[in-house]
Amino acid sequence: MKPKVIVTREVFADVLEALGARAEVIDNQGDRPLSADELAARASDAQAIVCALTDRIDSALLERCPQLEVVSNIAVGYNNIDLAACTARGVMATNTPGVLDETTADFAWTLLLGAARRITEAERYLRDGQWKGWQLKQLLGADVHHATLGIIGMGRIGQAIARRALGFEMPVLYCNRSRLPEATEQRLNARWVGQDELLARADFVVLMVPYSSATHHLIGAAELAKMKPGAILINTARGGVVDDAALIDALWQRVIAAAGLDVFECEPVYDARFLALDNVVLAPHIASSSAATRRAMAMLAATNALAALGGERPPNLLNSDVIGR
Ligand code: DGY
Repeated sequence: MKPKVIVTREVFADVLEALGARAEVIDNQGDRPLSADELAARASDAQAIVCALTDRIDSALLERCPQLEVVSNIAVGYNNIDLAACTARGVMATNTPGVLDETTADFAWTLLLGAARRITEAERYLRDGQWKGWQLKQLLGADVHHATLGIIGMGRIGQAIARRALGFEMPVLYCNRSRLPEATEQRLNARWVGQDELLARADFVVLMVPYSSATHHLIGAAELAKMKPGAILINTARGGVVDDAALIDALWQRVIAAAGLDVFECEPVYDARFLALDNVVLAPHIASSSAATRRAMAMLAATNALAALGGERPPNLLNSDVIGR
């Protein structure tokens, strides 16, 4: 009998085909997010769940899915999965690192350039019919070239962001748990510093850390107050890494100049006060959303799930302790 795989959200047809060749697939091409109860009911006799960051995989769910062997997240971030609970129940958990690095880095730069050059504000001004002609002091922005870039979280995506800074001839300051090899630092024109120094010196601060209790509200009122008044904050990491209420206050009071946000604390719900601010560029969690990358992420999630179901070690296993239990 084929194993049963639950795919919790809409995916590309070829991903369903790949899964369907080796498993019975219950899809959700209608893409309505499933409640915890709906997911538990669908997965109660399933061996695999291919899920997204919108699905909470916790011990309550795992308890109701006794035959589950693998949970395969279509995302590199996995704060939606209780890894310890998976390990305790012998369930493998996987994610999709690598395939989204360059696309996500591109988008961090999209937000950075957009916020620096006030692009959403400018477009709104034009669309509203307010543009009456050229003015010397119209929509003055901040220069990006030669400015100092601060990156908090210098993993693969952080380094891809830093590589792009070379073209703008920007020195890079970075914070990371561990220091990069000296040769990498030299190649990226990057210097390892403490967070306070980075906040005080960077013109642009990009957040690229995973979300956890350790990074919850990593940037709040105190940290924003340490930034330069002209600085711009970019969050392409996770909602919750920034205290959104504190950021809104800081943007209103021009404690910092602007922000570019792809993620929000309680997304898809966001604080409506963001909409009234003209110094923030907002996006609906799309940093990895190019057609090629989202397909690659979903296909990698399918590959991880199928490997686990076939008795192999999935290429992107997060809880290796589970093997041999
Ligand atoms: C990830 O992979 O963690 C992204 O946030 C998904 O869009």
